[in-house]
Amino acid sequence: MTESQPPRALRAAVDVVVLGAGPAGLVLGNLLLSAGIDCVVLERASRSHVLTRARAGFLAPNTARILERHGLADGLLRYGLRHGTCEFRTQEGRFRIDYGALGEAGPHHVYPQQNLVADLLRHYLHRGGRIHFDTEALAVHEADGPRPSVTTREPDGRPARWRARYVAGCDGRHGAARRSLPPGAVRRHHDHGVTWLGLLAQAPPSLDAVGYALHDRGFAGHMARTPEMTRYYLQWQRGTPADAWSEQRIWDELDVRMRAADHGPLRRGALLERGLFDLTCDVVEPLRYGSLLLAGDAASLLAPAAAKGANLAVLEAEILAGALAEALVRGDTGGLDGYSDRCLAHIWRAQEFTGWMTRLLHAAPGADGDGDGDRDGGGGSLFQAALRRSRIASLRTSSIHRDWFAENYVCV
Ligand code: APR
Repeated sequence: MTESQPPRALRAAVDVVVLGAGPAGLVLGNLLLSAGIDCVVLERASRSHVLTRARAGFLAPNTARILERHGLADGLLRYGLRHGTCEFRTQEGRFRIDYGALGEAGPHHVYPQQNLVADLLRHYLHRGGRIHFDTEALAVHEADGPRPSVTTREPDGRPARWRARYVAGCDGRHGAARRSLPPGAVRRHHDHGVTWLGLLAQAPPSLDAVGYALHDRGFAGHMARTPEMTRYYLQWQRGTPADAWSEQRIWDELDVRMRAADHGPLRRGALLERGLFDLTCDVVEPLRYGSLLLAGDAASLLAPAAAKGANLAVLEAEILAGALAEALVRGDTGGLDGYSDRCLAHIWRAQEFTGWMTRLLHAAPGADGDGDGDRDGGGGSLFQAALRRSRIASLRTSSIHRDWFAENYVCV
């Protein structure tokens, strides 16, 4: 601990301390309460920050099934928009894949993540759940023993210590769980070499599909959020500040890359948020260290190209809740022993498809390292660009490839 003040008296011990009130932590908290397990959620941010943070918004069919199974899908089913089509725009024209109706796939629900988090919090409180906002976990201690603890900085700035039987690290990539891993933990990391400028526009969607525009100036993406709000992405020069361009210049560039002149104008509006996303990914292996278990972004970070992060987080939370209930209610730790392998199989499948999708959408700088000086203006090599054209042609023409795409696009 770094504080000079001594920790407060130990907080009463609980069965599970959950770090983080994102989708992973709040689904887990709800399911633990339903199983009669005592838990507390500790969240670094304020309640209002958690409830207004715009993040992902595409929830896969399996995610909706999990939420429905546990009585957590009311808002999603009532307000979420069904979405099953994506449109690719390339130099050769545009084509659509109705992925929601192909193979074993199904449509997404488009539902902003902050709305899902608000629903999960409402249910959690309704079920009698305890949550402490403005409470930052600093470290997890003694995870290799039967009584781990978490040190925190409380809202008044003073330190405290929470005891538990298990600690669930659902506190994202920069959280205390990851910082507390033992030296043997492995973090496998990959940088796709691409940066996105993410934009939240106060404007209705411009097409009734997810839009993926492949352009030699770089990728541009369009994703509906609500009838009034749309998310856009622009492949961005890494290192350039998010506010380097005016709104006018951003919309003009989106028009060019989305080929608005050929396919219709984009509906413009104020850009409410701008954020930079380096398309990096990682996986922590294993996901269990004694009494400390990782889920969601704390377990694995995915590039946003295939919108899998929140879906994996919900799936892992359900698996973890089942395993903790078995251990705490019936004394059977088999589920916890298998937790890591079970989740890693889903995580690596999602990483594989996300990597494929990322290579499809971008000519990443230096991606092939062919060293022949064969470079185009978009920062990728002509060799890579040709491979991409071939992949796109296959996607456009092969029904098997489209089924494969559809199933992987929505599966978690
Ligand atoms: N102590 C307590 N809480 C913390 C700490 C900490 N030290 N560090 C981070 N947190 C909180 C964050 O404020 C956040 O509310 O943990 C929460 C983690 O939530 P998310 O980042 O939403 O992660 P997760 O629940 O794993 O959801 C996964 O949803 O939109 C996607 O990109 C997102 O892929 C991610 C996914």
